[in-house]
Amino acid sequence: KRLFLINGPNLNMLGKREPGTYGNASLADVVKLVKDTAWEYGYEVEEFQSNHEGDLVDQLHKADMQAAGVIMNPAAYTHTSIALRDAVSAISLPVVEVHISNIHAREPFRHQSMLAPVSQGQIVGFGIDGYRLAALAIIKKIESEGR
Ligand code: DQA
Repeated sequence: KRLFLINGPNLNMLGKREPGTYGNASLADVVKLVKDTAWEYGYEVEEFQSNHEGDLVDQLHKADMQAAGVIMNPAAYTHTSIALRDAVSAISLPVVEVHISNIHAREPFRHQSMLAPVSQGQIVGFGIDGYRLAALAIIKKIESEGR
């Protein structure tokens, strides 16, 4: 049983990047949090971060063959990427969208998510704890569907 954790552009800078908005935890801390949460339920986590849109598309396709669900923070591509939205539509897995900050309380250009309409759900505004909440939610979804 496996989950894919996919993080988009600039999230490799987590901890150093705008700590007032995104906090002090690093991407490694996020990965550990998701792995520890998933492990409690017997799930492994494959983690991937990229600053390149097409590589994120490729990883979603790979998830379709190798995972039961996806936790994804598409970062800035959330607001722009039809390609990522189409990739989420193309695969048959539940995808939970996570944002560390509350995108709806920020600049208007962050209010819209291209991916939200094709995702299982969205968790925003709880800091990196949102990743733990996303892991719990997707595992529950997977188990209820008997995947
Ligand atoms: C983000 C929110 C996006 O608007 C922004 O471009 C990011 C991070 C978040 O996790 O809060 O890079 O996805």
